[in-house]
Amino acid sequence: MPTDRPDHARELARTREFFAPRAADWETRFPDDGPRYAAAVAELALRPGQIVLDAGCGTGRALPALRDAVGARGTVLGLDLTPEMVRQAAALGRGAVAGLAAADCGRLPLRDGVLDAVFAAGLISHLPQPQGALADLARATRPGGRLALFHPVGRAALAARHGRALTPDDLRAEPNLRPLLAGSGWRLTHYADLDDRFLALAERT
Ligand SMILES: C[S@@+](CC[C@H](N)C(=O)[O-])C[C@H]1O[C@@H](n2cnc3c(N)ncnc32)[C@H](O)[C@@H]1O
Repeated sequence: MPTDRPDHARELARTREFFAPRAADWETRFPDDGPRYAAAVAELALRPGQIVLDAGCGTGRALPALRDAVGARGTVLGLDLTPEMVRQAAALGRGAVAGLAAADCGRLPLRDGVLDAVFAAGLISHLPQPQGALADLARATRPGGRLALFHPVGRAALAARHGRALTPDDLRAEPNLRPLLAGSGWRLTHYADLDDRFLALAERT
């Protein structure tokens, strides 16, 4: 269910402008987060041979763990709106473990029901139309497939890092996230908002 609002393209352009200059040193900012990504990938319980998308993959930090989880027979895709992020992922060698492409996860270049799982780290708060993007991710995922919305720190720690207060309208607060997911083809099955991890797991309905 991609959005066609007239200002949608402008909002995506602003997102690209924000992330493009951050691509080159993205992974040097928080170099110790790797084990947290691997632990979050493990929660997706992927099986060898499965097909998984890293939506908003950035420089592809999660891609090696996703490849380990699905094995050589599986398929790992890393898509990101910002071409500079995708180029940096390639420069870091992530193209050896995943197919990489620049794409909007609200308009996925994927057939219906082709994915077994979606991993999305740090993505949803950057989406101008989260419901439309989550619905397109659901469209591309088979019934029973899984979604992980992850961040390597919890909501309160992230707000403090950015010098802002948490507000009740925060998209990732459980009372907001549960209906957002339900309205876009997902059922929330697990929710953890801790100092050192935000992880919401959902199943394609
Ligand atoms: C906070 S970064 C996280 C990157 C990576 N997942 C990580 O954890 O290191 C958010 C990423 O989402 C991407 N992004 C934002 N909106 C997007 C969209 N509509 N479709 C695909 N990627 C998007 C940005 O370009 C950026 O690379």
